[in-house]
Amino acid sequence: MARRIFLYLFVFSISVFGILLLAFHYSSSAEQGSYLELKDIEQGFESGKCRSCHPAIWREWQRSMHAKAWSDPIYQEAASTVVDRQKSCDPCHAPEPVLITGIGNMPKLRAKGHQSGVSCLTCHVDVNGGMHGPSMNVDAMFHANVTNEAHTKAIELCGTCHGQSTVPEHNQVSSFKRSQAAGEGKNCATCHMPKVKRMQSTLSYERIAGRRHTWIASRSGKMLEGAADLMLEKRDGKAVIGVKNKSGHVLPGEGLRTIILDVKILNSLGHIEYHEQVKHSMMLGADQTDNRFQPDELRQFIFDLKPNRSIRVRLLYCLLPTTPESEWITMAEILE
Ligand code: HEC
Ligand code: HEC
Ligand code: HEC
Ligand code: HEC
Ligand code: HEC
Repeated sequence: MARRIFLYLFVFSISVFGILLLAFHYSSSAEQGSYLELKDIEQGFESGKCRSCHPAIWREWQRSMHAKAWSDPIYQEAASTVVDRQKSCDPCHAPEPVLITGIGNMPKLRAKGHQSGVSCLTCHVDVNGGMHGPSMNVDAMFHANVTNEAHTKAIELCGTCHGQSTVPEHNQVSSFKRSQAAGEGKNCATCHMPKVKRMQSTLSYERIAGRRHTWIASRSGKMLEGAADLMLEKRDGKAVIGVKNKSGHVLPGEGLRTIILDVKILNSLGHIEYHEQVKHSMMLGADQTDNRFQPDELRQFIFDLKPNRSIRVRLLYCLLPTTPESEWITMAEILE
């Protein structure tokens, strides 16, 4: 009798072992291909799957200019005047996934879903439906996690759209490569995707380091305040003004923007005696050339200053050529 029980137990444990082996086999082969395919992942994006497992990241992205890259009225208005917009504009504003068209290659216009602009899939998904990014510690079940340095050292990835030499007005990457920031090992995410430690998905069991999907830039007052240092020194009947570019690239970074150095000299009664505005933009230098501040550049401006005069210096930011002066934003100010 005891022998029989032993035999049963033996057979039982062999089968359990077998089942475990099988289970193990299937779970490891899952890494190679039993996750959803690209077309199901695309479907999942549209039906709100990404949002349900990554609510925090989704919320940030949804408010960002990437989510609005297509719907942005400023973009739509500008593109509406371009005859071949489908070829020369739309491909970057509603692109196919860049891991499929190739990092660094000119993006291609998506066949559908233009409204989601630069979407999660644009930056993350590969041709097999795998999701690329930093090293993760939870199996997503829905998609494969693929560790990729292109995301943790985000320069070339961004350069796919922000670094095409044929589109200089949207190129921040070329000048970034000459900057001190690049030499110090910074990348585009260092400043535009602030660090955050959090549950990266609803399935995560611990908070891990990641980055905010906000892509804050000139629409953030704080970013503008940190973009440049403004300095003033009075000596020998002169006011020497210094502007030091602290953004990681040309300043302003975008071709449509203008930075204005506004200088007012006031007499002892506080009346304006002299007023000058020096504009810096991609097309405002002599002969319509680019007179923007180069990375890390310190540029000096010298004005005559008679005795008993005070000087008010402001650095102002103008979003679009049509933005009225009343809406320019003050980046820095000195009154002495
Ligand atoms: C190589 C990719 C690429 C192409 C091609 C492209 N864009 Fe853009 N566009 C961008 C990027 C990247 C930004 C955001 C960065 C920036 O503002 O420099 C942008 C921003 C803009 C903005 C600024 C919107 C704002 O918020 O002020 C406008 C307007 C715009 N693009 C219009 C166009 C038009 C019109 C065309 C076609 C003539 C075009 N773009 C072609 C990548 C591209
Ligand atoms: C069933 C839940 C679930 C769904 C649906 C889901 N994800 Fe994930 N995703 C996860 C989990 C879990 C992780 C790992 C998080 C961790 O380790 O904390 C992850 C990680 C990621 C990563 C990082 C991958 C890596 O290796 O660095 C990206 C990018 C990502 N998801 C994007 C998406 C996108 C885009 C969608 C929609 C198409 C999506 N996810 C849908 C659960 C999900
Ligand atoms: C597939 C193309 C593409 C890629 C890749 C891309 N961007 Fe963008 N980005 C755009 C477009 C298009 C816009 C402009 C949206 C608009 O204003 O209409 C934009 C807008 C921005 C803005 C906001 C500009 C503003 O006017 O406020 C920042 C900052 C930015 N991107 C940074 C990045 C960074 C950092 C990366 C890399 C991690 C990156 N982008 C990758 C296309 C791209
Ligand atoms: C040291 C911090 C820093 C780094 C690194 C950096 N940027 Fe910026 N970036 C800024 C600041 C500050 C601004 C706002 C001032 C301006 O408009 O240029 C800005 C502006 C921009 C803009 C213009 C947005 C607008 O609203 O007009 C884009 C696009 C952009 N950066 C993309 C990039 C890309 C792509 C990289 C990587 C090559 C990068 N940045 C690296 C700090 C940085
Ligand atoms: C413009 C490109 C871009 C877009 C659009 C984008 N991401 Fe990311 N994502 C990145 C980069 C770059 C990183 C790497 C950040 C880092 O170094 O931690 C990242 C990281 C992640 C991670 C890993 C956690 C973290 O914060 O590092 C997840 C999960 C993720 N993204 C999900 C999403 C989802 C979901 C969407 C859409 C709602 C989305 N991403 C849209 C570029 C993008």
